[in-house]
Amino acid sequence: MRFTKSAITALFAAVLANAAPAPVPAGGVGVRPNDTAPEYHTMTDFDFQSLNLALNQEWIELDLFNYGVRTFSVEDFAAAGINEEEISLIQFMANQEVGHATLLTNILSAYGRTPAKQCTYAYDFYTVRDFVNFCQRLTRWGESGVYGFLPHLDSRPSAQLLLQSITTEARQQMAFRQLAGAFPMPVYFETGISQAMAWTSLQPYLISCPAENPRIEWPIFPALNVTNDANLLVDGYNAAISHNRTSLTEPGRQVQITWEAPKGNVSYDGLYNTTVGGNVTDPTAPKYVAWINQLNATYTEFNQTGNYSGYTFQPGGVVFNNTDDGIVNGTSFIALTDSNPYVTPYNLSLLNDVIIAWGLYQAN
Ligand SMILES: *[C@@H]1O[C@H](CO)[C@@H](O)[C@H](O)[C@H]1NC(C)=O
Ligand SMILES: *[C@@H]1O[C@H](CO)[C@@H](O)[C@H](O)[C@H]1NC(C)=O
Ligand SMILES: *[C@@H]1O[C@H](CO)[C@@H](O)[C@H](O)[C@H]1NC(C)=O
Ligand SMILES: *[C@@H]1O[C@H](CO)[C@@H](O)[C@H](O)[C@H]1NC(C)=O
Ligand SMILES: *[C@@H]1O[C@H](CO)[C@@H](O)[C@H](O)[C@H]1NC(C)=O
Ligand SMILES: *[C@@H]1O[C@H](CO)[C@@H](O)[C@H](O)[C@H]1NC(C)=O
Ligand SMILES: *[C@@H]1O[C@H](CO)[C@@H](O)[C@H](O)[C@H]1NC(C)=O
Ligand SMILES: *[C@@H]1O[C@H](CO)[C@@H](O)[C@H](O)[C@H]1NC(C)=O
Ligand SMILES: *[C@@H]1O[C@H](CO)[C@@H](O)[C@H](O)[C@H]1NC(C)=O
Ligand SMILES: *[C@@H]1O[C@H](CO)[C@@H](O)[C@H](O)[C@H]1NC(C)=O
Ligand SMILES: *[C@@H]1O[C@H](CO)[C@@H](O)[C@H](O)[C@H]1NC(C)=O
Ligand SMILES: *[C@@H]1O[C@H](CO)[C@@H](O)[C@H](O)[C@H]1NC(C)=O
Repeated sequence: MRFTKSAITALFAAVLANAAPAPVPAGGVGVRPNDTAPEYHTMTDFDFQSLNLALNQEWIELDLFNYGVRTFSVEDFAAAGINEEEISLIQFMANQEVGHATLLTNILSAYGRTPAKQCTYAYDFYTVRDFVNFCQRLTRWGESGVYGFLPHLDSRPSAQLLLQSITTEARQQMAFRQLAGAFPMPVYFETGISQAMAWTSLQPYLISCPAENPRIEWPIFPALNVTNDANLLVDGYNAAISHNRTSLTEPGRQVQITWEAPKGNVSYDGLYNTTVGGNVTDPTAPKYVAWINQLNATYTEFNQTGNYSGYTFQPGGVVFNNTDDGIVNGTSFIALTDSNPYVTPYNLSLLNDVIIAWGLYQAN
């Protein structure tokens, strides 16, 4: 049978008359044609302060990755088992940060607000191995710092864009572990931390920032130092996709801790005062150590041995009983606390109120 042109036109008209939006199951936000069109800007101070903190993190990553590529020679990298193609990868990661910083600057600039500009930074590594190790630690708190607030943002469209940046950062974190010769991802779940926790980890590396940068409103906790922290770098394990090496730490390990008193005026312009959580009664006498990793915040007792020093034992425990992955693994987080409230990933930021000091724990 032969179709005439008018028959075909009539057929299309009939199909179009039945056209309807693709079905969407009940619920969901911003998924229907008549929903408000997305606007990619911050809606509240919470949004602005969270995304501006993330922007500060992108700026230091941009500086850091470029600094490493610029500072070390091809021979220095080769001695750490890192070849020229891998150096190019690190350079590409720096370029990714230009994109991320641009994205956040655009989101934050709405309503004539001033997003952070790049600061100047101080690093305390002098070798390629220490550089890549520092990068995997810095990207760890950068990544976790965003996971902690992403679902709490008022602006879901902004959260969408930040999500698409932070997944790239997650790949950077893993690549730096590989460049450091470590097991790439020894956890089942990447943890989230609060903005105050991330800012506490970041701010020691800032030397000075442009005067017009917005003040960062998140508190900074006193520093916690694990004085017998494991070193991720193990002789004989250079850059590789994966190494099957022995875990650096185990449950039951005695962990030595020192911490600082809260300080005012610690930096050049008084921006970086440190403070303990609002519920803390005695910042000289922590009772617990909080271990924050995977989906968990778990406590161990703190045994104080001196003014601002003491010890605890690394906890065991698994995320789910039908698996064998310890909750404390990889580059994880640790805090001294006044009490031991039960928190879960979505309300972990409530821990801010009980923290006496904050730091990282290199479990593996
Ligand atoms: C949007 O469209 C759906 C049907 O597609 C309708 O049920 C709903 O009431 C509309 N919502 C608004 C706010 O107009
Ligand atoms: C942490 O403790 C170690 C071991 O005592 C020490 O080498 C390091 O300098 C301390 N770090 C800080 C930031 O105080
Ligand atoms: C690597 O480690 C796993 C356990 O984590 C073990 O089952 C496996 O046999 C090891 N493989 C090699 C090649 O060493
Ligand atoms: C830091 O603390 C000092 C007092 O120790 C106070 O005068 C100053 O305002 C504080 N700075 C900020 C930014 O909170
Ligand atoms: C903090 O800074 C303020 C204002 O500059 C000054 O008055 C105060 O003495 C400083 N405090 C400390 C502990 O340095
Ligand atoms: C804490 O220290 C006290 C006194 O030194 C000791 O009796 C106690 O067993 C210690 N607790 C732990 C968990 O090590
Ligand atoms: C702790 O500080 C007090 C008062 O400053 C001092 O008397 C004491 O000797 C210190 N203890 C230790 C173990 O350093
Ligand atoms: C870790 O978190 C998971 C998920 O919330 C929970 O089921 C488990 O009991 C926690 N484990 C420990 C040791 O706290
Ligand atoms: C997991 O095992 C521990 C220790 O046996 C037990 O206390 C806990 O209730 C178990 N959790 C679940 C969710 O089964
Ligand atoms: C950490 O994960 C690695 C790799 O899965 C595993 O071999 C190691 O035993 C784990 N360490 C702890 C302390 O759970
Ligand atoms: C955090 O949320 C859990 C439920 O997921 C709840 O049981 C717990 O009480 C909350 N913690 C605080 C400090 O409110
Ligand atoms: C902090 O103290 C307030 C007031 O007593 C209380 O409602 C809140 O639960 C405490 N927060 C935590 C995390 O314990």
